[in-house]
This record gives sequence, C-alpha cells and structure tokens, in this order.
Amino acid sequence: MRPLGLITGASSGIGDGYARALASQQYDLILVARRADRLNALKSELESQYGICVEVLPADLTCDHDIARVEQRIRDVEALALLVNNAGFDQLGDFVDVPLERHLGMLKIHLETTIRLCHAALPAMRQRRCGGIINVSSMGGLGPLPQNSLYCATKAGLIMFTKVLSGEEQPHNIAVQALCPGYTYTEIFNTPGFAGLRTERIPRFLWMSVDSVVRESLNKLRPGRPVVIPGLANRIFYLGFILNPFGEQINRRMWSWLYPQ
Ligand SMILES: NC(=O)c1ccc[n+]([C@@H]2O[C@H](COP(=O)([O-])OP(=O)(O)OC[C@H]3O[C@@H](n4cnc5c(N)ncnc54)[C@H](OP(=O)(O)O)[C@@H]3O)[C@@H](O)[C@H]2O)c1
Repeated sequence: MRPLGLITGASSGIGDGYARALASQQYDLILVARRADRLNALKSELESQYGICVEVLPADLTCDHDIARVEQRIRDVEALALLVNNAGFDQLGDFVDVPLERHLGMLKIHLETTIRLCHAALPAMRQRRCGGIINVSSMGGLGPLPQNSLYCATKAGLIMFTKVLSGEEQPHNIAVQALCPGYTYTEIFNTPGFAGLRTERIPRFLWMSVDSVVRESLNKLRPGRPVVIPGLANRIFYLGFILNPFGEQINRRMWSWLYPQ
C-alpha cells in the first residue's frame, strides 16, 4: 500500500512542489486549495506520470464549513502518512489600513486551519506510531517586518505551536516540522497582497527555488527536529540580522527600501 499525503495550497508554488516531490516518492495524494481547475490539471499530470492516486478536495480554508470538510476527510482516511499545512497568503500594509476581515482570514488560514487539521490527523498517527506534519511558516515568523503584522504574528505562532507539538510527538515517533522559507520564487509575489513590493531589489542570493526548499524540508523531516530554515544564505541572514541586537533596525531599513511608501 502506498503512503498517503494531504497538502493544502497545492494549486501553486511550494504546495505544488510538495505534491510533485511526494508523487515522485510514490505517495498517493489529497490536494486542497480553492482553484479546482489547477488541482485537477495537477492530478492528471501526476497520475499519468507516476501511476499514483490523487484526490482533489477544493476548499476555501478561511471558511469554517470548508475547513470542517477537510478535517472530516482526514478522519475518514485509513492512514495519513504526511500532512502539509502550506496554504497561505500575505497582505502588506500598516495594520490599521488593512481591512479587519483580511487580518482575520490570515489568522484563520495560517493558525486555526493548521491547528484543526493537526488535531484531526494526530490520533491515527499516534495509534500507528508513525507519521509526519509539516507546517509551512516563514522567516517572517522569526523576526518582525513592518507592514506584515498579522503575517509575522501568525507565522511566529505556527513556529511556537510546532515546537511544542514536535516535543510532544517525538516519543510517538511522529515528525512535526515548522518550515521557515525565505524568498522563494512563487506566484505569491504576483498576488494583490504584495502590490508595491520591489522584488527586483531583493538580492539574488536570498532567493530559492521551490524544488530546493521542498527537498530540504523533506530531507530534514524527522521526530525531534522542529524548525528548518532552508538555504545557507537564509541561515546566515537569520544569525546576522535576526539574532543580532541591531539586526531588527537594519532589517527595518532594508524593508523600507524593498517596500517604499
Ligand atoms: N514564496 C515565498 O517567498 C514564501 C516565503 C516564506 C513562506 N511562504 C509560505 O509558503 C506558503 C505557500 O506560499 P507560496 O509562496 O507557494 O504562494 P502561492 O504560490 O501563492 O501559493 C499559495 C497557495 O495557498 C492557497 N491558498 C491561498 N488562500 C487560500 C484559501 N483561502 N483557501 C485555500 N487555499 C488557499 C493557494 O491556492 P488557491 O489560490 O487555489 O486557493 C495556493 O495554492 C504560504 O504559507 C506562504 O506564507 C512563502
């Protein structure tokens, strides 16, 4: 029997990358996102290329009813080997200028959805004494960025949630990882939430491809290893800026150059 993986936000970017990587490792997949057309195209491609089974589960993960359907699907499957909580978005702007519904939607998709899907998946994983969960956070969860209040807050919350969960699940042989990517080439930068960001000003060495991010995440997924920052440049950036007492100031200056207002 093939292992089964469920990936949220599989219709593009990092989620699409996980789907391709896991398909190549002979996982069956459940793909979740709003754009069913994209998920169906990916399903056809992966099924014909790898001979696996892919189920498409369209859902808006800012909506309670849809989150409940995904939770139920997780409880219904016989054995989920890997859950990837990846769906997310950002909305740049001063906290007060961003509509409250947008903030609450981000809180829901990054934190509440992740918490609910982990809670649905873990009992069966514990029973089988194996399984993995990847919660896609961000380097934005490791230090504050202006005009990113809810993004930084929810991604930081994901890291702390995952650290605690990883410790609890290690004795049950379950791997729980918070993945903290830096700048990764995806469509997220073309979404309306990123309007005004001067991506061309971000140094090339800070960018990573989806493939490298996903490969590092999967290679480092193991019980008791709660946080993965993919890419050497990102780890150096983390040590140099985020842990440095003056790093926050420098980081803020850099950000105002990337996002002039
Ligand atoms: N790219 C980066 O530089 C970067 C860096 C750090 C962290 N991340 C994180 O990586 C994750 C994936 O982002 P990405 O860069 O791959 O961006 P992306 O290409 O825009 O993908 C985002 C995915 O999330 C899904 N999604 C968004 N809103 C949704 C909703 N309401 N309900 C269900 N699914 C929804 C999208 O699908 P639909 O639109 O079809 O619903 C899409 O599949 C995010 O959590 C992001 O915060 C990205």
